[in-house]
Amino acid sequence: MPNITLVGFMGTGKTTVGRILARRLGFTFVDCDDEIEREQGVSISHIFSELGEPHFRQLEHDMIIRLSRSDKLVISAGGGAVINPENVDNMKEGGPVVCLASSPEEILKRVGGSTHRPLLQVPDPKSKVKELLDARAPFYARADVTISTDGLTPEEVADRVMEAVDGIKHDA
Ligand code: S3P
Repeated sequence: MPNITLVGFMGTGKTTVGRILARRLGFTFVDCDDEIEREQGVSISHIFSELGEPHFRQLEHDMIIRLSRSDKLVISAGGGAVINPENVDNMKEGGPVVCLASSPEEILKRVGGSTHRPLLQVPDPKSKVKELLDARAPFYARADVTISTDGLTPEEVADRVMEAVDGIKHDA
């Protein structure tokens, strides 16, 4: 299999589950945001505040094209990467795209106090999470499969991703 790309909202466990999957499959794990930070030499927060979100989205787009053309990667895409349909097209060309989904309550528990997620540095992160989840629902729906993570351990989520990806492989 070429790659597996994990999409989904901030705090749904893409990085934790992605690392487990990569270990099990003998693939390399890459986090799109980490790659951007490494290449640009600055944090995502810095890019948002100094250069603006559109600039970040362009860097993210370029990185997704590059990563999707690689082989045997488990890619964790940033939570907003799906809003550009071309990004999802590129991910799909590289292999199965799996969306991890969690309830707004669970997401807030995990990322509500986060200081390195620029989109949540607002007076009311709860409303912001709900607003973004609603606005992005149709974009996440483009994934080949969606796994609900609530109540599952990361290992259990990884089991479900493996099963789902196997199904996609056999259908193809
Ligand atoms: C974003 C999610 C973040 C990061 C950036 C924007 C988003 O990634 O790309 O802060 O638009 O949802 P994670 O989903 O890995 O936190």
